[in-house]
Amino acid sequence: MPAVRFLDLSVSQPQRAELLAAVERVLAHGKLIIGPEVEELEGKLAARVGRRFAVGVGSGTDALYLALRAADIGPGDEVITTSMSWIATANAIALVGATPVFADVREDLNIDPASAAGLITNKTRAILPVHNQGKPCAMDELVEICRQRKLLLIEDCAQAFDAEYKGRKVGAFGDLACLSMNPMKVLAALGEAGMVFTDSVEWRDKLHALRYNGTLNREDCHWPSHNGRLDTIQAAMLLCRLDQLDACLARRRQIAEIYSRGLVDLTGQLEIPREEQHPPAEPGAQTGGTHRGSRDVYYTYTIRTARRDELMRHLEDHGIESRVRHPILMPCHTAYRDAARGSWTRAERWVKEILCLPVHEKLTDEQAHYVVRCVREFFDGARKVKR
Ligand SMILES: Cc1ncc(COP(=O)(O)O)c(C=O)c1O
Repeated sequence: MPAVRFLDLSVSQPQRAELLAAVERVLAHGKLIIGPEVEELEGKLAARVGRRFAVGVGSGTDALYLALRAADIGPGDEVITTSMSWIATANAIALVGATPVFADVREDLNIDPASAAGLITNKTRAILPVHNQGKPCAMDELVEICRQRKLLLIEDCAQAFDAEYKGRKVGAFGDLACLSMNPMKVLAALGEAGMVFTDSVEWRDKLHALRYNGTLNREDCHWPSHNGRLDTIQAAMLLCRLDQLDACLARRRQIAEIYSRGLVDLTGQLEIPREEQHPPAEPGAQTGGTHRGSRDVYYTYTIRTARRDELMRHLEDHGIESRVRHPILMPCHTAYRDAARGSWTRAERWVKEILCLPVHEKLTDEQAHYVVRCVREFFDGARKVKR
């Protein structure tokens, strides 16, 4: 067993007992599909994100696919997205029959609004930014581009539930917003789960139909679709997880803080994630939050260094698991690379430099300091690290 694991999805007490009690309650009422817990979760997540409606679906991939379907995006349409994300983002666009067009990223590894704007054609219907690795995108710019060019904005919040941009939660900006709650995510089910957010009654109703074979009243099919509903048991467990979310995020931020304090002076050899600060809100402005900065939820703590592969080996030699998420840019996957359109020069350079350090809430301070020491030792090249 390595000294520091990248992920630890095991569940210990008292959370285990709470989850089992939630399952017991579902078994007792027996409404296993779209039971009361699904509706309760939808209501709580919509309120937390600041939207009118949330629709529970089977996964983050379902959320993206169904959101695009609800917005009537399909063959002949183009959707501009980032080049750096998990492939589910591009796949959802391709699955509705539209063409993904890939934009470059900024220093923060999120979509570059200027690059996205430069890719707009008369076929573009939407921009689909991904809040990559828990960090919010530059939403002011993206909202403005979409407003000016009359495009839909569809957020992929899969990796960033509860992250904030200028005091508003991600998921609160787009016409539609999509969430994954698979077991690796910050708000994690014990299996597959997803959610779509919107303020539109029409889209909410269409999503209800689309998540169940495109049927109205669960009988008559209006839009051929698949079965993409959220299980009641997953919703029940997610309600328990939601109660623990603040503590979980606070712990991730503490670990990130240990890393950032310990590594900040290595800038030049290694870039650490930075949280953007913004000027204070205008008096009376609706920020929906308590501050104006961006808040990362540290889905990963992603550093960048030209010596990435060597550093990864060094960490492994010291019992520390690290990962490259995601090592292949979306336009460079086999399924896309021959026909991929867009521009991704910076992403191409940086994808070779990114490395995710373990940042889950089960790490101890001691383990986090040990990671810092090992990274420093690698760059200082000197002393041997004592475990
Ligand atoms: C950015 C992004 N979008 C979409 C998805 C798809 O979510 P799911 O795995 O729940 O289908 C993921 C999952 O990892 C993701 O990271």
